[in-house]
Amino acid sequence: MAGDRRDGSLAGSLLRRGLRRARSATDRVLGREGQGTGTARVRFELPDGQSIDADVAAGTRLLHAAMAEGIDLSHYCGGTCSCGTCRVEIRGDARGLSPLEGREQLVLGFEAMQRGDRLACQARVLGPVSVRIPKDF
Ligand code: FES
Repeated sequence: MAGDRRDGSLAGSLLRRGLRRARSATDRVLGREGQGTGTARVRFELPDGQSIDADVAAGTRLLHAAMAEGIDLSHYCGGTCSCGTCRVEIRGDARGLSPLEGREQLVLGFEAMQRGDRLACQARVLGPVSVRIPKDF
């Protein structure tokens, strides 16, 4: 059929798969993977006692949301989940964040995990959430 974008050929199938992978890699680099729809409000409580509210696209990593607001949040490893300097404390309900996963658990450590802390470079915003940025990481 003329104009049918799904030709069923091997070349077409490989091209579509390549495009999906390229989009996925781009989303990973930009911190957009797992992005839902809409926006969610994040409250950042700063070490000096002030707070900043930000409306961010669902799926945005906390680190990127903080950086977009000009918040100085340590991230020595560049967000590769290896330094732990982006640790934040979650205030109240943590259901507005993506689930804690394996590598993040390792870097956070048992004590921080028990407190409910998260790594800002790994936690993605899925709904309203309030986080406190500690004075020292
Ligand atoms: S920036 Fe290094 S673990 Fe998050």
